[in-house]
Amino acid sequence: MNLTNARVAAALILASVLNKDGSLTTHLHAHRQHQQYSLLQELCFGFCRWYFQLDAILQTLMEKPMRGKDLDVKCLLLLGLYQLKELRIPDHAAINETVKSATLLKKPWAKGLINGVLRQYLRQQIEVNAKTDQDPIAHYAHPSWMLDQIQNQWSQHWQEILTANNSRPPMTLRVNLSKTSRQDYLHKLQQAGLSSHAGSLSDSAVYLDVPQPVADLPGFTQGLCSVQDEASQLVASLLELAPGQRVLDSCAAPGGKTSHILECEESLAQLIAIDMDKSRSERIRENLDRLGLSAELVIADAADPRSWWDEVAFDRILLDVPCSATGVIRRHPDIKLLRSAADLDQIKTVQLKLLRSLWSCLKPGGLMLYTSCSILRQENEEVIALFLEHNNNAKHEAITADWGVKCRFGRQLLPAIAGQDGFYFCKLTKL
Ligand SMILES: C[S@@+](CC[C@H](N)C(=O)[O-])C[C@H]1O[C@@H](n2cnc3c(N)ncnc32)[C@H](O)[C@@H]1O
Repeated sequence: MNLTNARVAAALILASVLNKDGSLTTHLHAHRQHQQYSLLQELCFGFCRWYFQLDAILQTLMEKPMRGKDLDVKCLLLLGLYQLKELRIPDHAAINETVKSATLLKKPWAKGLINGVLRQYLRQQIEVNAKTDQDPIAHYAHPSWMLDQIQNQWSQHWQEILTANNSRPPMTLRVNLSKTSRQDYLHKLQQAGLSSHAGSLSDSAVYLDVPQPVADLPGFTQGLCSVQDEASQLVASLLELAPGQRVLDSCAAPGGKTSHILECEESLAQLIAIDMDKSRSERIRENLDRLGLSAELVIADAADPRSWWDEVAFDRILLDVPCSATGVIRRHPDIKLLRSAADLDQIKTVQLKLLRSLWSCLKPGGLMLYTSCSILRQENEEVIALFLEHNNNAKHEAITADWGVKCRFGRQLLPAIAGQDGFYFCKLTKL
């Protein structure tokens, strides 16, 4: 198989994602040295972002669905439609290159089919688009269960959420305020010819007008900035850090919040960062090394404190739970293909278990911050409600802020076009 061709590599990656065999991030990481990496990335992200729309279009163009064993050919067809509909590649080049890819996939019989379907789409584009656009799943390009959840839970905001989910995410930086000021860093970016502007929620956030490789950011290797969404940058200040505290960052990898905590408070007594994933934990070390920071890293199941805890209670615990990631769909559009409604119950059980287990590690008078990059209430306020029902020594502390939506428990930021990701925050204190 000729994987040096970006369309062939994309078709194979996407067939794996549709088979729920690995995430897009993992597959793209394996191809990071690909000669046509930008095109490969563009094709894969666009395909996932618009899959439910492209698939509806394909169904109107084909008399019968593709056989399961030809999922790779179906992916080529959808990639062809994506190029014709959304990219500035000339139509003839998009069609020719996609048709040629069938031979490279060792399925030359599909050349005529791909050529015919893509040319038919070009001829009937206006009518076909208008027809498929009437179906909300195709129009909003989200799976039906997710569309229902978002519409039901966010009746005032659902259209903005879905539009933001389908937008290209901004590249947001966190200026290291222990080394420089945001004003100075904005100036450095300007001198480097990179236009940018300050965020409005966090005093360390800077938005680049055009995403850049990190190597091109001034002072990146010296630790002047990190890449982090603006919503996540609010976490450290909500922890109310002070010198001498013992802090636990559970579920810490790749360490975005671990490093921010250390930048914000240099005189902590101790910071322990736990994650159960060894390879993701290595990224915490890399991030800390670049920023010249240190923390105690533990690879363990945070929900089993007997395996890692010395029984000295923490003043602060950050619990940034694993979740559906429905607040960061624009950064990981494969979530729309990989997640199902059935996953939510299982995720909620894990979240509740982590919360209940880690509660025992918090000092009386201590503060736990529960956060997630989900916008679904089952993983956020419902977890907190279940927890509070059985824990008389836990008190919910309202977050007073001029951002986000106040929930029964905690506060929710929703994803915004060119702004922050969707993110949930809830403060709990121990009586
Ligand atoms: C949302 S990510 C954390 C992001 C991180 N806090 C940051 O800001 O960079 C969730 C993490 O939880 C970890 N995780 C999931 N279940 C865990 C468990 N039981 N114990 C420890 N870590 C866990 C995953 O490996 C994943 O790295």
